[in-house]
Amino acid sequence: MKDIIKNNLENYGYTIVKNAFTEIETKNLISIFENPELKQFLTLDKNNCGFTTNDGKKDNLQNLLKSDSNMNKEIINHALSSFEKTKFFKENLSNFETNGWNGLRVNVPSQKFKNVCWHQDIQTPIENKMDIEDKKFYTFWIPFSSVNENNSIEIVNMPFTNKVFHNHYKINIPLPKIYRNSEIHKVKISLGDLVILNNSTFHRSTWNQSNFIRISADLRYTKNEKTSFDASFLLRMRIFKNKIKNLVKK
Ligand SMILES: [Fe+2]
Repeated sequence: MKDIIKNNLENYGYTIVKNAFTEIETKNLISIFENPELKQFLTLDKNNCGFTTNDGKKDNLQNLLKSDSNMNKEIINHALSSFEKTKFFKENLSNFETNGWNGLRVNVPSQKFKNVCWHQDIQTPIENKMDIEDKKFYTFWIPFSSVNENNSIEIVNMPFTNKVFHNHYKINIPLPKIYRNSEIHKVKISLGDLVILNNSTFHRSTWNQSNFIRISADLRYTKNEKTSFDASFLLRMRIFKNKIKNLVKK
């Protein structure tokens, strides 16, 4: 990994890589949307501002791309293989591999409930004991179009920390006090660019106020470096309460 990327991640918690995909590599990345099954529901805007669909087809689209669908998996696998073929990946990430926890995000205009609240990516694997939490990983956020302040994500400028708070992507909890005055970066990038986040960096999505559907991939890579995280008291309490709830259910 280039020093500038490493230093940005260490000091600011994130880094933006412009043109991580060359023009040809970008074409390969979005070629998946030429798939006839997707094409009946989705059109990529000619200026790459995002995707559009007919209002009547929104439900079919969301059904086709829901998290356990084959199409969802196909797009993620395509994103992983296109990314791993890039010059950027080969030069910077040759000793990295995916930890298997990847996701497709479909953010439809005006669907506020689809937003994710302030969270640290490490929090979910710790809470769900996913067995990937002891190896430091990075999230590579790759939108399949350009994004701006109307349909993007926000990131807190914060150095790497081992502390994991009780925030949750589905629960609207304010940022921990120590980060409330930190600078917040609203991501504005073009198709072919990407964002790399430490797994401890707070981020959230912004309500999509554009006219375009935003589709993005969260790809997670690790070089299997051991890290131990320190869950906050409130997070440990929630994990404990959920454990009790599950025991009572049984
Ligand atoms: Fe996240």
